Amino acid sequence: MTARVDAPLKVTGAAKYGADHNFPGMAYGYVVHSTIACGEIEAMDVTAARGAPGVLAVYTPFDPLVLHPPTSELLGPTWVPLQDREVAYRGQPIGFVVARTYEQARDAAALIGVTYRERPAVTSLEDGLATAEDAPGRDGAPSSLAVLAPGVESIEDALAASPVVVERTYRTAAQHHAAMEPHSAVAVWESGKLTVYSGNQGAFLQMADLAAALDVDPATVRAVNPFVGGAFGGKARTSVPAFLAAAAARALDRPVKAVLSREQVFTATAGRAATVQKVALGASTDGTLVAVRHDSWCSTAMDRSFVEPTSHGTSREWYATPNLAISQKMVPLNLPQTTFMRAPGEAPGSFALECAMDELAVALDMDPIELRLRNNSIAPPGVDLQWSSKHLDDCYRIGARRFGWADRQPGGRTDGDWLVGMGTATAMFPALRFPATVGVTLLADDTAVVATGGSDPGTGLLTVLSLVGAESLDIAPERVTPRLGDSSLPPGGVSGGSTATASAGSAIMAAAGKVVDELLTLASAPGGPFDGAEVSYEDGRVLAGGRAMTFGEVLRALDRPSLSATGSSAPGEERTKHSFSSFGAQFCEVRVHRWTREARVSRLLGVFDAGRIINEKTARGQISGGMIWGVSAALHEALEFEPDGRIANGDLAGYLLPVNADIPEVDVEFVQHPDTLHNPVGAKGVGEIGVVGMAAAVANAVFNATGIRVRHIPILIEDLL
Ligand code: MOS
Repeated sequence: MTARVDAPLKVTGAAKYGADHNFPGMAYGYVVHSTIACGEIEAMDVTAARGAPGVLAVYTPFDPLVLHPPTSELLGPTWVPLQDREVAYRGQPIGFVVARTYEQARDAAALIGVTYRERPAVTSLEDGLATAEDAPGRDGAPSSLAVLAPGVESIEDALAASPVVVERTYRTAAQHHAAMEPHSAVAVWESGKLTVYSGNQGAFLQMADLAAALDVDPATVRAVNPFVGGAFGGKARTSVPAFLAAAAARALDRPVKAVLSREQVFTATAGRAATVQKVALGASTDGTLVAVRHDSWCSTAMDRSFVEPTSHGTSREWYATPNLAISQKMVPLNLPQTTFMRAPGEAPGSFALECAMDELAVALDMDPIELRLRNNSIAPPGVDLQWSSKHLDDCYRIGARRFGWADRQPGGRTDGDWLVGMGTATAMFPALRFPATVGVTLLADDTAVVATGGSDPGTGLLTVLSLVGAESLDIAPERVTPRLGDSSLPPGGVSGGSTATASAGSAIMAAAGKVVDELLTLASAPGGPFDGAEVSYEDGRVLAGGRAMTFGEVLRALDRPSLSATGSSAPGEERTKHSFSSFGAQFCEVRVHRWTREARVSRLLGVFDAGRIINEKTARGQISGGMIWGVSAALHEALEFEPDGRIANGDLAGYLLPVNADIPEVDVEFVQHPDTLHNPVGAKGVGEIGVVGMAAAVANAVFNATGIRVRHIPILIEDLL
């Protein structure tokens, strides 16, 4: 297992994150927030703020930094602040104060007086359900769809004809990414060119967003994000501080740094939607699914900028069924924006579906694993394309043995004052990839550089670049220098959607093939060190007859410092041949205290089929982090909104996240079946799937331990009284 190549820099504090960049003459920006949830700003009195010590500028909707909302194919439109006087949620950025120091900017911001014409706010998902709107599907898919067996008129008929039916409503709480590194940016203009240092999931996306927002040529914008302290979807879109710092730095002609406080992160950046989901499962008495219906409602901001696709993403693909109907609705609320967050759709969606599967197993008096294996699909329902590779059954068999599933009792067991239960759930996340280009450079000192504009938000992509680069060049990983996080590098994709290894890895293989071909051509060309010979490449060397030279020796003989090639990869033809997904089986043991009703997770196991694992250490880190996130969703995490739209727990003291004492050892196992039908590297993605299913596994274990079925997360002590 290779250690992360960036580990020494991170653990010694030498890694420079966005806000660690400083420049002479740099000013500091502080974001001002709305204090109502809905209405119009009538006036902002900035006189005192403008006159406060050190203040350089105060920007408001009345005196804005002009920003044009950017739209990207991948992420859709991104909201930019200060362009109108509408307030859609409490904590919305409505101003930006720039001063010589951070403290001066913050203190001046407190002097701004705002008058509003307030309107009634809708802040509860339950209140908004009656006026829900159809949500657009992914890639232009409809809001709802039905796949029905021949002769079946409706999903209701199919359910009515099912011998056993489970029909339940589940609820999941709003969450926030709470990445360790708050969103921040440092913007520098020099000779008409902008450089922005800001943690993000793709330097290229950020460059494009900033260029569009500022209405400048993308060639004049450089986005740098060498280290990113966690992102999880919450740094996919360009952040408010990045837009404001870039625009203010241009207006003031000096570098500007803007860093959100922890509290500001909760409203100035987006989180995960709350959901209500109704699931109906109809089955034969042997457990074969006859009908699946999944109707979902998710909260969204008033700009309707994101749909948490619980129905679209979950029941659509999971189990074989002749009859399937899904619908997705959204409920616009006067709450902060929602966005992609670790397994968007699948994470809350799997809570509903996989709890319902557990309830069906109980209704059938059947083992929950047996029920899931019986309904294992070879293709998504209603889709002609079979899975390229699926080893979910292996995940369950291996996991059941390793976890001691055979010892599970239908009514749990007791251990002193503790009620002990086991739960399981399926995990799935689509295997995707996005376009990516990677540059591979051979150097005369016998090392190589693998470079792409993508991002490593803690996932281990930097290490993957060096490993796949080394493998493709047939040299040791120590000889490869990976480079990431700079839009001046070849246009890498985004570290999002669990796509980075498949996308960048395939591009590395293409680039390495090209650079080796060029090396061989140069080596055997007239005047080259292998003039006219039949050459081959192996072990970092050019070979012909009995002779061998390292690529560095060849370059030196040619008097060249380096040789470069770029390679690209993008999803293509394979999508017309197969369906692609990662799969997994989650296991959890929960102990609920007989008297205090406290629930503790005592054992966790996840077994995953994610294709080839390039680096077990970083892959495990991804998966175990996701599993912990699932436990957190089940027992800890929830954004609590007051009726007036205020977040009651918008800081790390109030927003409950698990600490080490809450989490037992996390056991992760991979069944490794490289999926080269998906991409040449054979990796299917491990970023998001770790969280999927885990909250359901916890809830199912709580039921096994206590007999109490809780259909919402987080599960609180009062739910178990
Ligand atoms: Mo993904 S939602 O970018 O973690």
